Amino acid sequence: MTSSGLPALRSAVIGAGAISLQHLDFLRSSSRSRLVGICDLSPVSSGIAARRFDAEDSFTDVATMLEQARPDVVHVLTPPNTHGFLATMCLERGVHVICEKPMSPTSSEAAELLAVAAKHGVHLVENHNYRFNDEILELQKVVAAGTIGDVHEVDIRMALPIRDEGSRFADENLPNPIHDMPAGVIHDFITHFAYLMNTLSGEATYERVAAVWSNHGGGDLFRFDDLDALLVGHNATGPFHGRLRFSCSTKPDLFSVVVRGSGGQAATDLFHPFLEVVGPRPGGEQLTPIVNHIVNGTKLARSGFKNFGQKLLQHGPYHGLAKFLDDTYAAFQNGQAPPVSPAQILAAAQLVDQLLEAEASR
Ligand SMILES: NC(=O)c1ccc[n+]([C@@H]2O[C@H](COP(=O)([O-])OP(=O)(O)OC[C@H]3O[C@@H](n4cnc5c(N)ncnc54)[C@H](O)[C@@H]3O)[C@@H](O)[C@H]2O)c1
Repeated sequence: MTSSGLPALRSAVIGAGAISLQHLDFLRSSSRSRLVGICDLSPVSSGIAARRFDAEDSFTDVATMLEQARPDVVHVLTPPNTHGFLATMCLERGVHVICEKPMSPTSSEAAELLAVAAKHGVHLVENHNYRFNDEILELQKVVAAGTIGDVHEVDIRMALPIRDEGSRFADENLPNPIHDMPAGVIHDFITHFAYLMNTLSGEATYERVAAVWSNHGGGDLFRFDDLDALLVGHNATGPFHGRLRFSCSTKPDLFSVVVRGSGGQAATDLFHPFLEVVGPRPGGEQLTPIVNHIVNGTKLARSGFKNFGQKLLQHGPYHGLAKFLDDTYAAFQNGQAPPVSPAQILAAAQLVDQLLEAEASR
């Protein structure tokens, strides 16, 4: 029984790799779940994870786990090229699926999987974890309060050294399966861009999409290592412009999100959190820029100390994942709609399609 009096759901995990640590941390500690199984092709990985996270059993075969552990919810945490068939196996047995992003390479494949879930009366939820980070939730509150006026622009930018020696994507001898996705390695990050853009734009529609995908570092391993994209369309308040940028050649590592409106702007960096809000302040037009500088400068300095503390507490960029999972499990337990809807999953996949089509038609 959970603290809410509802029975805990039987949970299982497929894939005991890097991201599983975040999911398993939640599953071990949440009263909403009972961790009945961990499956990985490697018996060593599944066995070690099962011991570390107090799972009831470990497996190397998914069908066997579904048969013996009888989970209510399965987390699919394997490389993206395996999500489709693994999620289908679970959904067809009437099991809810929480699937890591990117759930599918294209929106049509995402729609097919969602249809399987609907047919079997269960939920299929893609992990949109950054939407649940504290800074994004705060930024949404700032927008909802009208502090920056109507939203007209969103700018999302990530810099990560994916080509540097030691990067999990740069090994020529053991290529990461993500290289086979339509956007190559950038497909590992682009779902985050897409759902954040959709959410923060107020679910804008993008009538014109220009995207330049490059392989600046050259060679055959990387399909692309750089993306520069512009979106022009509409949201409920008028014309909307979006910018998406991925770079592996600039420093420092960052995941910056800027929302600009008719009355100001709000900005954060999800890797190094702070929230800057530039908007109308008391003191009139003359003093507003100075007050904004003083308020944001003070907040930035405080964020430095807070982030140091958060690092010690291991409250890193993945902290939104625990809230996403908790909200999702609560929805499953209460028979309510999960916090990431099929429409949101499809809209994110459709934006990725549009970005890739823009390259194909250049
Ligand atoms: N949401 C996020 O912020 C975030 C962060 C990192 C990774 N991810 C996503 O999580 C997924 C997994 O990434 P990762 O970095 O953990 O990968 P990983 O390579 O570290 O781990 C994948 C694991 O899956 C296992 N596996 C593969 N096929 C299997 C099968 N058929 N049955 C059982 N086990 C199988 C592998 O043995 C491996 O242990 C990817 O889709 C990735 O994009 C999401």
